[in-house]
Amino acid sequence: MAELKDSYGRRISYLRISVTDKCNLRCRYCVSGKEFVLKKREEILSLEESERIARVGAALGINKIRFTGGEPLLRKGIDYLVEKISATPGISDLSLTTNGTLLKEYAARLREAGLKRINISLDTLNPARFEKMTRTRLWPQVMTGIEEALIRFDKVKLNVVAIRGTNDHEILDFVKFTRDKPIALRFIEFMPIGDNGWKPGQFISSSFVRSRIEREHELRKISQLSRSDSAELYQIEGFEGTLGFISAISQGFCENCNRLRLTADGFLKPCLSSDVEIDIKSKMRSGANDNELAELFIKALALKPREHNLLGEDGTKRRMFQIGG
Ligand code: 5AD
Repeated sequence: MAELKDSYGRRISYLRISVTDKCNLRCRYCVSGKEFVLKKREEILSLEESERIARVGAALGINKIRFTGGEPLLRKGIDYLVEKISATPGISDLSLTTNGTLLKEYAARLREAGLKRINISLDTLNPARFEKMTRTRLWPQVMTGIEEALIRFDKVKLNVVAIRGTNDHEILDFVKFTRDKPIALRFIEFMPIGDNGWKPGQFISSSFVRSRIEREHELRKISQLSRSDSAELYQIEGFEGTLGFISAISQGFCENCNRLRLTADGFLKPCLSSDVEIDIKSKMRSGANDNELAELFIKALALKPREHNLLGEDGTKRRMFQIGG
């Protein structure tokens, strides 16, 4: 089996493919209050182009693919893309990160198309707060979407970005939410990305969230087989769900980073926090063959930094919806 290694010896086996920069939510920490422009249709990779890049990656040793956005379920034909890529030799794990609003409609089809797992992003269990945070009233749709995902998928993760002064008093409500549901809940540290209005005062570390939970519940650490999973996992006795913490800021997990990103507008992105990008779309559109595209993967890996620079000066200008998380 082919292996992709970066210049620090990390094996890269995971590609995150953003399929659109569109989203039906307007989360304040993602799009912030400022103007933004969506890419023109012709700038966005076609489904065939995304599939081809995935295939080239798979031949090089990528075995895990996640679809992201924007909101990936707004991309017409996403189920077709899932089906195509799930049939690609070498791809053994296929997942998707969604805001959940369209899952009622899509979950069954995605499962049939070969999707294995689903991650849902939800930062509040309170409909009024959801409206404030996302500037929409789609909270009930997300709840329905979660129920549908639980019916159709064995593995459902729920991502919560913990933000002081916004949703920090809901930590225990989220934990309670997983008592009778087989959900892998993950608290994510809020990161400054692309001018998203991040302020140090909004930051809550994973250890703070964990100690808040430990006041009420005893946490048992789950030993992990895969070191590349970015979350530290815990179990509460008697709970169907599990708990995880993703600590990009306070701990960093770059040492085990195994990922590469493909933006919706066709750039390979070696690191979430950096604007160093490889333009694979232009090469492809000017007639490059698969070997030449494979070389761009190698080039992207050579440019993968040892660590993210989330708190540094020269972070990415792309916003989260232009990267896919
Ligand atoms: N910090 C941490 N997580 C973020 N996400 C989006 N923006 C940020 C941020 N600034 C999360 C989303 C989603 C995942 C892809 O990334 O909520 O769950």
